[in-house]
Amino acid sequence: MTPWYPIETDRLLLRDFRLEDEGHIYDYASDPEVVRFADWGPSDLSTVRSNLHRRLEDQERWPRDSIEVAVELRSNSYLIGIMRITVLDHTNRTADFGYTFNRRYWAKGYATEGTRALLHLAFSNLSLHRVWATCDVRNIASFRVMEKLGIRREGLFKRARACRWISLPPGRPASTLEPGKRRYKKATT
Ligand SMILES: CC(C)(COP(=O)(O)OP(=O)(O)OC[C@H]1O[C@@H](n2cnc3c(N)ncnc32)[C@H](O)[C@@H]1OP(=O)(O)O)[C@@H](O)C(=O)NCCC(=O)NCCS
Repeated sequence: MTPWYPIETDRLLLRDFRLEDEGHIYDYASDPEVVRFADWGPSDLSTVRSNLHRRLEDQERWPRDSIEVAVELRSNSYLIGIMRITVLDHTNRTADFGYTFNRRYWAKGYATEGTRALLHLAFSNLSLHRVWATCDVRNIASFRVMEKLGIRREGLFKRARACRWISLPPGRPASTLEPGKRRYKKATT
């Protein structure tokens, strides 16, 4: 049995991770703007490295319920993000999904294009019955992606996730945040 990916879309390649992806992943995972609605990050290089090794190990198993794919831009072979789909309930054939993209590549339709391909796979190859996702109510971009994909809003969960909001003062560089924390480093001067 072989995996149902890699998948090519017009502009993207959804594929397995590689060791050499480390720098590209660090590029988005260390960006506080990218993780402001997430329950992880901003990540330092060692966290990125250990997560990548975990993904490389996971990729050795097939089939598996949770699949993370690297999203590569076909025009320049840059890894611009990651997408995940996780089968949560085999009896009811349901899964949830998520996505994170490099800020330099936002608002170009990439998340919508990649997720559209993933959802197509979910309902065809994986024969799923229901696929869903959640986002923070302040995460307009994520909400908009789902809206463009025709995903129906079903409810508002209060305090459902340990999502931490990062507010970055203008001009405050990511390097002044402590890795993995929502705390600024003490000034050294
Ligand atoms: C959510 C995310 C994956 C979207 O990726 P993307 O490639 O920019 O998505 P798309 O370009 O396909 O669509 C984004 C849509 O949101 C819109 N949008 C983004 N920010 C917006 C804002 N502040 N106000 C109004 N619309 C906004 C874009 O204009 C676009 O809509 P349009 O095509 O109608 O113009 C990306 O913003 C991201 O990685 N965010 C950080 C991680 C994250 O929050 N992941 C989701 C957790 S639930």
